[in-house]
Amino acid sequence: MIERQDDLVRPEATPEETQFEEKIRPSNFEEYIGQRQAIDALTLAIAAAKKRGDALDHVLLYGPPGLGKTTLAHIVATELGGQLKITSGPAIERAGDLASLLTNLNAGDVLFIDEIHRLSRTVEEILYPAMEDYVIDIMLGKGPSAQSLRLELAPITIIGATTRFGALSGPLRDRFGIVQRLEFYSPVEISSILARTARLMKIQVDDDALAELAARSRLTPRIANRLIRRIRDYAEVHNDGVVDANVLSAAFALLEVDELGLDSADRRVLHTLIDHYNGGPAGVEALAAALSEERQTIEDVVEPYLIQQGLLRRTSRGRMVSEKGYRHLGIVPPHNDSSTAQTSLGLEK
Ligand SMILES: Nc1ncnc2c1ncn2[C@@H]1O[C@H](COP(=O)(O)OP(=O)(O)O)[C@@H](O)[C@H]1O
Ligand SMILES: [Mg+2]
Repeated sequence: MIERQDDLVRPEATPEETQFEEKIRPSNFEEYIGQRQAIDALTLAIAAAKKRGDALDHVLLYGPPGLGKTTLAHIVATELGGQLKITSGPAIERAGDLASLLTNLNAGDVLFIDEIHRLSRTVEEILYPAMEDYVIDIMLGKGPSAQSLRLELAPITIIGATTRFGALSGPLRDRFGIVQRLEFYSPVEISSILARTARLMKIQVDDDALAELAARSRLTPRIANRLIRRIRDYAEVHNDGVVDANVLSAAFALLEVDELGLDSADRRVLHTLIDHYNGGPAGVEALAAALSEERQTIEDVVEPYLIQQGLLRRTSRGRMVSEKGYRHLGIVPPHNDSSTAQTSLGLEK
């Protein structure tokens, strides 16, 4: 059955969802929809590296969760003809963990480090010479008799992914030759992704329903795929599996997803700013405290889409609800704030 709506924007995939995602994950650049700029940069760099017989430059992918970073890492490794090894910043606890990962890779392999901004300092320092010269220096023993041992690595590619570009240290950032920010998808691209998923999962969805689903998917493939699965569940129980306008409106009401794809958590952010801070500006810390949310969840998961939609503005003094934000909630905006009105007009479609 349909789960609680709060789960819809949850950034990480559950184990069950990961299994599903693996089944429908695009496996090459042709199947990967959108992100033209990143794809062009990567295809060019891969072709050049292959021609020279070198390893591909290290790649840093950043942007909100669910936009296709892990998927791209899989595709890049396939294109290079190498193995992909997946780890994450918090999973690498000690320098030795990273050393053993790196020394087990062969030429052309890719090490994908998710949440790379969460690497510890000591682990990060092992990574520098590995990225620069394909060597690692490990310390043997302790105290005055300690010795440093240098190990050669095969020419490999590190792909780092992060939702928080700003949390990476300068030296780490500088070691990536290719840095790509993934963008929100256009509604048309999201429709294509939904159509592809519907085809693979044999879900019957008509064109109108597809467009409606796309509009509520927060321009994010993971959320689009989540929505279509939940709607499928609903359609199976109530409409013989057919997804049509009636199924959609009933299911969206149940999920509390509105026509812009906002869920109750998003609306709570806007309402809190309006009720407690007169619409803002309010610092993100204060906002997080008022919502009993982690600051990072607001910054990485909730806020990017609200800003993209022009509902929320990030100013030097804090977050503010835009005129469009007020109107979206059905609240009359305070008309004395001309700056709010201007910005929201500029962002409106
Ligand atoms: N460009 C795309 N085209 C089609 N499906 C995509 C695309 N990007 C992501 N997806 C789908 O969305 C899911 C989440 O993508 P993922 O790569 O795990 O995101 P991230 O690592 O950025 O959080 C994937 O399982 C995949 O099925
Ligand atoms: Mg990922």
